[in-house]
Amino acid sequence: MNIPPGFQLQFSRTRLICRPGGVDSLPDELQQIGAKRWMLVSGTRSADSEAAKAVRQALGSQIVASWTGIPQHSGVDVIGAMAEHARANAVDGFLAVGGGSASDSAKAAAILLAEGGRLADHANVFYPPDRYVQQVLTNPKLPIVAIPTTLSAAEVTPGLGIRNDDGHKLVFWDPGVVPRLIVLDAAVCTDVPADVFASTGMNALAHSIEGMYSRVRNPASEALALQSIRYLSKALPRVVDSPADVAAREQALIGAYLSGLVISNARVGIHHGLCHGLGSMGGLSHGMANAVFLPHAMRFNLEAARDPLAMAASAFDPKAHDLPAEQAALSAVESVARLQQRLGLPARLRDTGLDHAMLPRLAQHAMSDRGLYFNPRLASEAEVLQLLESAW
Ligand SMILES: [Fe+2]
Repeated sequence: MNIPPGFQLQFSRTRLICRPGGVDSLPDELQQIGAKRWMLVSGTRSADSEAAKAVRQALGSQIVASWTGIPQHSGVDVIGAMAEHARANAVDGFLAVGGGSASDSAKAAAILLAEGGRLADHANVFYPPDRYVQQVLTNPKLPIVAIPTTLSAAEVTPGLGIRNDDGHKLVFWDPGVVPRLIVLDAAVCTDVPADVFASTGMNALAHSIEGMYSRVRNPASEALALQSIRYLSKALPRVVDSPADVAAREQALIGAYLSGLVISNARVGIHHGLCHGLGSMGGLSHGMANAVFLPHAMRFNLEAARDPLAMAASAFDPKAHDLPAEQAALSAVESVARLQQRLGLPARLRDTGLDHAMLPRLAQHAMSDRGLYFNPRLASEAEVLQLLESAW
């Protein structure tokens, strides 16, 4: 047990339904939430997915508006137009079907509709090296119901990220936008490409790994992180081997959901700090950025996070429990690297299409990301650049 002294714990009012065919219970469930005019929000790929079809079929005329084709890193302009469309259709609830962009966009539109002004005015700001200002957003938000079809776990948390006009990722934190209902329905996820589960699964794994050694964590987030690592590390290879395996998909969805509970209570660190820029400026999907970068970030934190990493190691492999802490910590890094390889994911930034000339700008951008604040090892810009070079 190595939790920093003093902690806070928050659980949301979210109701979770996890079963194949769970989407069929939406009509009854939505009645309890009370909203009657729902807007379906989804990304480009998920607009015609099995999940979106099942949701449309289950809800029929209760869906009065749709906003499909949300890009991977949704921007403030998209959110403005989406909120306008919701207002014009007197929408009183959002149905987010798809990955992180669908969820984050629904949350951002709910914030904009409730708080007014410009979306950027409501974002949190990190002043390096150690001042973090969180906005207090008190106006009541429209309810959100999420049907995730990737493992980003974005639907679980009060946090969200939206790209500003200048390419920087704005981050928000508002317990009012946590979905009222999440449906994990693995039966409508088997058409999602296995490599999307693999890369977004690495994102979920990163939530739990970073949660293990975050400067802000607690006994509950630690327990959730360990269980999430167990689920993800076992389920992801099964999904890649047999994409039609509903049980494997469900185990992966559960692992991801748990990782979302982790980052609702423990804050992500330098790994996510860099992944934000790799996405919004480098053009990588958040899943792909996570998939490549995680072992590198873990190595960077190896000494500062030795004990939490040693504990994480036994979630990958119970035998690691008997190893000395240093070896166990290293074995956690090796387990993640092995999983990366097993899932057929790239291991180096150079294999992603990223431009090497971009690394200094990415390092500079990361310095204003709050992930650096919550990371167990504080880093200078030179060290961040070194980390990027080692991942290259
Ligand atoms: Fe993430």
